[in-house]
Amino acid sequence: MTARLLELRGIQKRFGGVHALKGVDFDLEAGEVHVLLGENGAGKSTLMGVLSGAVVPDEGVIRLDGNPVRFANPRDAHGAGIAMIPQELDLVPGLDIAANLFLGNEITNKGVLAGAAMRSQAQDLLARAGVSLDASLPVASLRMGERQLVAIAKALSAKARILIMDEPTAALSAVEADHLFTVVKELAGRGVGIVYISHRLEEVTRIADRVTVMRDGAVVGTTSPDAPQATLVQLLVGRPFSDLFPARSAKLGAPILRLEHAAFDPDIPRAGWQAPRDVSLTVHVGEIVGLAGLMGVGRTELLSALYGFGANGRWRGLVEMHGRPAALGTIRAARRAGISYVTDDRRGTGLILNHTVGQNAVMSTLKRVTPFGLVSRALERRQVKRALEDYDVRPRRPEAKVVNLSGGNQQKVVFAKELMSEPGLLLLDEPTRGVDVGAKAEIYRRLRGLADKGLGVLVASSELPELIGLCNRIIVMRAGRTIHEFGPGPDEDAVRRISEAEDLAA
Ligand SMILES: Nc1ncnc2c1ncn2[C@@H]1O[C@H](COP(=O)(O)OP(=O)(O)OP(=O)(O)O)[C@@H](O)[C@H]1O
Ligand SMILES: [Mg+2]
Repeated sequence: MTARLLELRGIQKRFGGVHALKGVDFDLEAGEVHVLLGENGAGKSTLMGVLSGAVVPDEGVIRLDGNPVRFANPRDAHGAGIAMIPQELDLVPGLDIAANLFLGNEITNKGVLAGAAMRSQAQDLLARAGVSLDASLPVASLRMGERQLVAIAKALSAKARILIMDEPTAALSAVEADHLFTVVKELAGRGVGIVYISHRLEEVTRIADRVTVMRDGAVVGTTSPDAPQATLVQLLVGRPFSDLFPARSAKLGAPILRLEHAAFDPDIPRAGWQAPRDVSLTVHVGEIVGLAGLMGVGRTELLSALYGFGANGRWRGLVEMHGRPAALGTIRAARRAGISYVTDDRRGTGLILNHTVGQNAVMSTLKRVTPFGLVSRALERRQVKRALEDYDVRPRRPEAKVVNLSGGNQQKVVFAKELMSEPGLLLLDEPTRGVDVGAKAEIYRRLRGLADKGLGVLVASSELPELIGLCNRIIVMRAGRTIHEFGPGPDEDAVRRISEAEDLAA
C-alpha cells in the first residue's frame, strides 16, 4: 500500500494568549480536492501556514509520503512541492505580471536578468491558468479578481504536488470561478493534492472530494460533499441556521443618490480603468441597490468615481444627492455629502495593518469624537467597544494589531470603521469577502436595519445569491453602462435571468 500524500497530526499553535490550533489532524490524498471550512478565526489559514512553512507549529508532525518533514520557512515547503496561494495576495503592485511570477526565481543569463525569456514563459504560465492578460502589465493596474488569477498562475509555476488555495474565488465572478474550477480539476486529475479554503458553501458540492470543518482551533468533523448544506452550516456555526437574509422592507423614502446618463471623466485616464460612461440609477432612503456584472464592467470604477477614490475627475450628466445637483469626484466632496465607502481591497485601502483595531476603527470618525478639537478618549473607547461588539470582531480587543486578525475579522473591522461615521449613503464593493456565513447573516441584518433607519446602500458583489437575497433592486452593468434593472425584490428565478444578462454583458 502506498503512503498517503500528506498527514498532519496533533498540530498545536499558540500566538501569545490565543490558542489558534488545538491538536489538529488533517489528511490529503494525491488527486484529491479537500475543502476546508470554518468560521472566521477558526484556524484555517494558520493550519495551512504550518503546512506551507509560514507558521512554525509548537507541536505536531507533518508527514509527506509517510516521511516526517519539518519546514522552517516557506522556501523549505516550496522545495518539497507545496505551493500556497495566500488569502492576502503577496504580489508586488509596482512590478509587472512577469516579474511577479518569477519573483525570487528570476531567470538569469550570465548573471543578467533575462527579461524577454521571463516574459514569454510568464505568458505561457498565464495561458496554462487560462488567464488572458498581457504579462507586461503592472500588477497595480489590475483589479482584485485579475490579481487573484495572477496569484494562481504564480502558484502553478512551482512544480507543486500540493496546492493550497485560501479563498481563491472571494473576488471572482461566477464565470471566472467556473474557469478556476476547471483548472483545479485538471490539476487534481494530474495527481496534485489540493486544499481549498472557502466560505462559499455552494462551491463545496461543485468541487470537493471531501470536506473538513474547523471551529475554534479544532476539527469538528469531516464529511462527504453530498451532505446537505444545512448539515454543513450546523457543523460550521454550531447551531441550526435558516435565515441568511433579512426581510426586505417595502417602504422606500426619497431619492438619496440619483444618476441620469451620468459619465465620469478621470483627470488622468488609465489603461484598463473602465470609467462610468452612461449610468442611470437611483438609491432611495431605505433601499439596498445591487450592482451585478462580470469583472471589468466598471462596477468598482463606478463606486470609486462616486467617492473620488483612486481617480479624481469630473462627472457629467445628472448627478444629484438628496434632490440637488452634487459635485462629486473627490473624497472631500463625498464625505461632506455623507457618503462612505468600503473598498474591495481591505489591505490596500481599507486598513492600516500595523495599527491596532481601535486606531483603525476611529479613523473615519475623528471629527465626531473631537467635539472641541480634542480627542475624547473615553468617548472613543466606548464607541470602539460598541462597534467591535456590533460587528462581532474576534478577538474583541481594541489593542490587537489588525495584521494579526484572521481575514474575515479584518473585513469586519473595515465595516465597523466605515459605519461608525454614520453615513447617509454607503458604497460597498464585495462587502462580505472572506466573511463566514454566520457573520455574513449578521452583516446583512445590520445593513437592513440601518437601511430601515434611513441609510441608502449601493453594493457591488460577484456573489449573485448575496445580491438577490439582500437587495431591493439589482442593476447589471456592461462596459461602464447600466444596461438592465431587476426588482423590486428579485425573485427565485433571478439567478438565471441575471446570469443571462451578465453573459450578454460579457
Ligand atoms: N500572527 C498572529 N498573531 C496573533 N494572533 C494570530 C496570528 N495569526 C493568527 N492569529 C489568530 O489565530 C486565530 C486563527 O486565525 P486564522 O487566520 O487561522 O483564522 P481563519 O480560520 O483563517 O479565519 P478567516 O476565515 O477569517 O480567514 C485568530 O484568532 C487569529 O486572530
Ligand atoms: Mg484565513
